[in-house]
Amino acid sequence: MKPIIAPSVLSADFSNMSEEIEKLEKSSAEFIHLDVMDGHFVPPITFGPQFIKSIRGKSKKIFDAHLMVSNPEAHIDSFAAVGCDIITIHAEVASHLHKLIAQIKNHGIKAGVALNPSTPVEMIKWVIQDVDMVLIMSVNPGFGGQSFIPTVVDKIREVKKLNPNILIQVDGGINEQTAKIVMEAGANVLVAGSFVFQGNFEEQIQKLIRVGLAL
Ligand code: DX5
Ligand code: ZN
Repeated sequence: MKPIIAPSVLSADFSNMSEEIEKLEKSSAEFIHLDVMDGHFVPPITFGPQFIKSIRGKSKKIFDAHLMVSNPEAHIDSFAAVGCDIITIHAEVASHLHKLIAQIKNHGIKAGVALNPSTPVEMIKWVIQDVDMVLIMSVNPGFGGQSFIPTVVDKIREVKKLNPNILIQVDGGINEQTAKIVMEAGANVLVAGSFVFQGNFEEQIQKLIRVGLAL
């Protein structure tokens, strides 16, 4: 199975973002993963719609926004307006999850829902047919370069059982070893920050794709 690779620009060189995006644009990555952090739901603050708008024109890839923000309802519209193709919100902070999924889809884009490592899959059971993607966090959100938490593998299997046709994205600590484990469990979209940006982007991306093709 050929996985979709979603490099996270969190690990990019922010002083050289134009070139970083150009390199990703020429690569085999299908998504560009955009980690939005608000300093409240997670400690760091990263970037907002203005930054995404500034790089949108440089890439035709799928812009995959991962909103690690406390009040997603206040932000969905502005991220849709700057050209995000997928907006993923965290189930932990969405008191009206069904309604927020509709708010995302009303923009004609794809909706995703994310689960922290400690959040049970039951939380999204009643919306799983409405979303396009489930994001299983395999580290606690907030920082790149953390170690993969193995207990999330069972959660991937559970999601796959609930909806076999959905995109299952795994985010955090992905390398060739963990990529194999999560794809065997049913994941088909791999977010990779430090793994992609630590070397030649295309070579690193190809390593992950090859793991999937060999399964
Ligand atoms: C963490 C972010 C991830 C992060 C992944 O909160 O959601 O997307 O950038 O980085 P790596 O691949 O280095 O774990
Ligand atoms: Zn992310």
